[in-house]
Amino acid sequence: MPIHNPDYYLTRGYKVRKNLWVEEVLGSGLTACIYRCQDTRFGDIKALKRFNDKPGILTPTIIDRIKTEPTLNIQSNNVVKSEEVFNDTFWNLLMPFVEGPTLRNGLESGQTVELSYATFITMGLAKGAGDIHKAGVISTDLKPENTIITPDSRVVIIDLGCFEYIGQKGELMLGTFPYSPREQIVNEKLEAYTDIYANGIIFAEMLMGKNAFNQVVDKQELALKRGYTRLDISSLHMQYPKAAEIIDHCIDPDPFSRYQNTQDLFNDLSGLYNGFFKQLVFVLSTGKNISVPQGKLTVGRDDISPGNPWISGKHLEIEFDGNQTAVLKDIGRNPVFINDRTRSIPKHKPIILHRNDVIWITDVPLSVNF
Ligand SMILES: Nc1ncnc2c1ncn2[C@@H]1O[C@H](COP(=O)(O)OP(=O)(O)O)[C@@H](O)[C@H]1O
Ligand SMILES: [Mg+2]
Repeated sequence: MPIHNPDYYLTRGYKVRKNLWVEEVLGSGLTACIYRCQDTRFGDIKALKRFNDKPGILTPTIIDRIKTEPTLNIQSNNVVKSEEVFNDTFWNLLMPFVEGPTLRNGLESGQTVELSYATFITMGLAKGAGDIHKAGVISTDLKPENTIITPDSRVVIIDLGCFEYIGQKGELMLGTFPYSPREQIVNEKLEAYTDIYANGIIFAEMLMGKNAFNQVVDKQELALKRGYTRLDISSLHMQYPKAAEIIDHCIDPDPFSRYQNTQDLFNDLSGLYNGFFKQLVFVLSTGKNISVPQGKLTVGRDDISPGNPWISGKHLEIEFDGNQTAVLKDIGRNPVFINDRTRSIPKHKPIILHRNDVIWITDVPLSVNF
């Protein structure tokens, strides 16, 4: 195939608009090539999306979206948006470069994503989608290819090129199977629930792994022709019932039976996520709780009984592994007793705590829950 225009395909060292020095190609598709560039004015690294000018590709609506994207009011740690648009015979969008593989790269091995990490990634996607919705638009193109996971585990949605306006019918493409719900395929009104559907499908894909996911997607494609569109996640219901319930609430064929906003989805996801990391809790007789997350915590007078002269400012040191084992050290001035109060804990010697132990600092009981 002849190259349409040599200036569309750029090689290392090419300078775009005098200040963008091309380093490498990041990706190329039908509509655009994405280059990693150095902005020689400030020395920072950018991603440049350069649109193909082959006839028929850039419709007036797409050009309108290209021009509008930099003006969208999206501020998010979980979304990368173009900052600038310019035309040097080609349309170009300039955006911050985001380091890291796409979620698609991560799924290629065929391995499943561990439940807590998959939940964490879906939380980032829901948060990013919510930040997009706040700007009055929806992505309509959430999928693993358009999700980057940075080396410090930030989840970033890229490629807003197909955004549509909330509450209106889509004007661009009719979605990407299997990430797009029925209302997008048949061109009905689009809402936050349209992106929420994709969130659910991506969550299912991570938990199932490539092979099982592709199998249920193939079956769904067949079933679609008969008008039945629900992705079969029965295997997930057996393995991860709570996650499967959340997914089902995202991918209901009836958009009004889905989560109606990303905050509700995010809340359910974070409830699930927090459950993976148990906390140790000291319950005081006053009803107050002191929680010890995974790691080390020092507890003293102000936490337990402010003003109490028998309790040191730092009296107990607790280390909790987030799961089974909690270790306690008495580092205070006065002795600490355990359970029936006949046995004092040796100073500075770690002891292992058990569920329902009661620790006494003079007359103050702390019961242990985890
Ligand atoms: N801001 C960015 N930072 C780093 N890589 C990016 C960025 N934007 C796009 N890419 C890379 O380029 C690929 C294609 O970009 P995308 O915007 O999704 O274009 P397309 O329209 O071809 O889907 C992505 O999969 C990603 O690997
Ligand atoms: Mg893309």
